[in-house]
Amino acid sequence: MVRLVVLLVFTAFTSLPAFAWGKTGHRVVGEIANTYLTDDARKSVEEILGPEGLAEASTWPDLMRSSPDPFWKTEAGPYHYITVPTGKMYDEVGHPPEGDAIFALERFKATLKDPGATREERQLALRFINHIIGDLHQPLHVGNGTDRGGNDVTCSFFGDTTNLHAIWDSGLIDQEQLSFTEWTAWLLPTITEANRDAWSKIDPRVWSAESAAIRDTIYPSECDLSYGYVFDHRETVRLRLSQGGVRLAAYLNALFAE
Ligand code: ADE
Ligand code: ZN
Ligand code: ZN
Repeated sequence: MVRLVVLLVFTAFTSLPAFAWGKTGHRVVGEIANTYLTDDARKSVEEILGPEGLAEASTWPDLMRSSPDPFWKTEAGPYHYITVPTGKMYDEVGHPPEGDAIFALERFKATLKDPGATREERQLALRFINHIIGDLHQPLHVGNGTDRGGNDVTCSFFGDTTNLHAIWDSGLIDQEQLSFTEWTAWLLPTITEANRDAWSKIDPRVWSAESAAIRDTIYPSECDLSYGYVFDHRETVRLRLSQGGVRLAAYLNALFAE
């Protein structure tokens, strides 16, 4: 009986779809963004979040998925990803009735622009924007509509059974065995002024189209993955974390300058 319960609990956890860059990925995006905030944006972020910084706030929408509140149980679920079939543009398909990450970004941006919004509403909005801009840079958070962003693609990764989505949320990142501050310290010196210029367009549709293009190149022909897959995609992981951070800062700098 005890064994059965253990097995059921284990199965329940291991079959949960992965929802986001893992904690490290989100924190790296938040911490990189923190470096590039303007004084105005930094002041607004501090007013809204208090002592909690962008790195800490970035993982909150994943933590809250365990809350029994209907907002977290149902409404906010689709806010972590979008679906864009291969060969299509986001605006050709738009968002489903329940919303998606781009829909949620608009929603929470409107909250931050609303002078009547409470501090609590602003906190929710800023934490979500922080999280969603990270998610949109994870190539498989722009799903092709066939496999829940790779959650349904069973793979082995260094001998452990997992799925392609989870490998991109956290497997490839954790492979480096760095903390989020170590990751940030490695990436920041590689981000040039020219990179920041090239990445500066504030358009979630552009970021998502990049994710979709990358996504279409990362499905392995055989899903038994280890060092070779890590080697092939290492630069892509570094690029998407760097771009996520630079763009989160650009988004907040523009938002809080207006
Ligand atoms: N569920 C459906 N599509 C998904 C995606 N791209 N990422 C995470 N969860 C999903
Ligand atoms: Zn997420
Ligand atoms: Zn995910």
